Amino acid sequence: MNFLLGQSSQGFLYQKLTMRVGVIESYTGLRALRYYKNWVKPNSENMFLVVSLFILILGLLIFLDTKKPKNYPPGPKWLPLFGSALKVLKERKRTGYLYEATAQMAKQYGPVVGLKVGKDLLVIVYGAQAMKEFLTSEDLAGRPTGPFFEMRTWGKRLGIMLTDSDFWQEQRRFILRQLREFGFGRKNMSNMIEEESNHMIHDIRDMMNNNESVTVDMESLFNIHILNTLWTMLAGIRYSSQDKDLKELQGILGELFCIIDMVGAPFSHFPVLRFIAPELSGYKMYVKTHNLVWDFIHRELKRHKETHNPNEPRDFMDVYINILNSPDKKPSFTEDQLLAICMDMFMAGSETTSKSMSFMFLFLILNPDVQKKAQEEIDRVIGRNRLPSLNDRPNMPYMECCVLEALRMFAGRAFSVPHRAMRDTYLLGNFIPKDSIVIANLHGVHMGPDCGFEDRKLSDQKGS
Ligand code: HEM
Repeated sequence: MNFLLGQSSQGFLYQKLTMRVGVIESYTGLRALRYYKNWVKPNSENMFLVVSLFILILGLLIFLDTKKPKNYPPGPKWLPLFGSALKVLKERKRTGYLYEATAQMAKQYGPVVGLKVGKDLLVIVYGAQAMKEFLTSEDLAGRPTGPFFEMRTWGKRLGIMLTDSDFWQEQRRFILRQLREFGFGRKNMSNMIEEESNHMIHDIRDMMNNNESVTVDMESLFNIHILNTLWTMLAGIRYSSQDKDLKELQGILGELFCIIDMVGAPFSHFPVLRFIAPELSGYKMYVKTHNLVWDFIHRELKRHKETHNPNEPRDFMDVYINILNSPDKKPSFTEDQLLAICMDMFMAGSETTSKSMSFMFLFLILNPDVQKKAQEEIDRVIGRNRLPSLNDRPNMPYMECCVLEALRMFAGRAFSVPHRAMRDTYLLGNFIPKDSIVIANLHGVHMGPDCGFEDRKLSDQKGS
């Protein structure tokens, strides 16, 4: 190399370098092209060599892309680029649901199913034994990283649902203490829920408007009141159920839940889709709806800061603002993190609760005998002149069974929040490479063949 010849003239050196090793000197694509043109004269022999080399490398990459790591959990074959995505898609189409598709795969391949969807290694956990080992494994306690999971929080890892390690522990401990021990101001969580239930009953009465009956979209009704409960807890605000802002939030979250689930979206497994098909892959909508949620929460944070009194925290935002203003706050406490926690609470708390309640009503309608027994217990323990409270719980075993059954009906059709292997590890003897995404299909423990329940359990509860 000319560097080693000790040329003193910089001009001469520059000329030599651009002529012979321009690519090293400049690193620009243009220079690289010039260098390539000088080096490889375009004749048919060279062209043949280049094309052959290209095909060889491509073939090798394709071959490697279909090769599974040794001892990786059993699962469908991998195709280049797609992995097992097409097989999952086909099963999903056939069965109607992703939980059903992956349950079928577990039947075929065993309780730990190894998939690859686009760029992601994805492991599905199914059934009690695998679930127990999964949930108690520290190696599998991480949360996924990458644009899909981080873009929602400005490219940073924030919030509670999709963070891990010390950051997550510190924030989670704080949030749980606030929610569990202290409540906010004079109200605790149970009071907030009771108060909101009261409003819901009034809303239904208003809808009935002295008629014998009325048709109600239960999920939408629950959703509004659940959002209100969460928002009261986080920001001390209760909207009327007809309120424009609340309806707006409900609409935004509804849109968001339509395009994503925790397993990901097409553009998370195939990131290139963000650029070539932003609309079709759900990316554009994902960004738009997240921005709307942020704006919504941010507007409230601004109002809170303007009216904040450190001695009288009204809600979670106030408690958190107090921490932000304290001189010895830990670095994980930031304003962005507060916004991310609020968003996570909406995400994790709204759809789960409203779907569970909807299942409850659906199955009560389908099982009038159960409905009758539940009503008898309510009349006997509470009567018709007051609302139930948590204190009634020990005296209402039949209702307790119904609630648990409704939770089973919902959770049995859902997945856990995705986990990440924080290091190379094993699950039931299967090798799980570092950074694999691991998700439990909750169907296995709630409704699978060895779960110990029958599907129509709700109809034959004895209340004991
Ligand atoms: C019927 C209602 C609900 C069900 C079935 C449910 C279910 C779940 C499940 C399965 C997980 C994942 C655990 C894991 O894989 O590690 C989870 C996490 C979580 N849920 Fe719920 N949830 C419900 C209601 C709520 C509510 C009302 C809130 C908020 C007030 C909430 C907040 C969260 C949060 C913040 C996480 C993440 C926890 C963490 O990573 O530490 N959930 N939930």
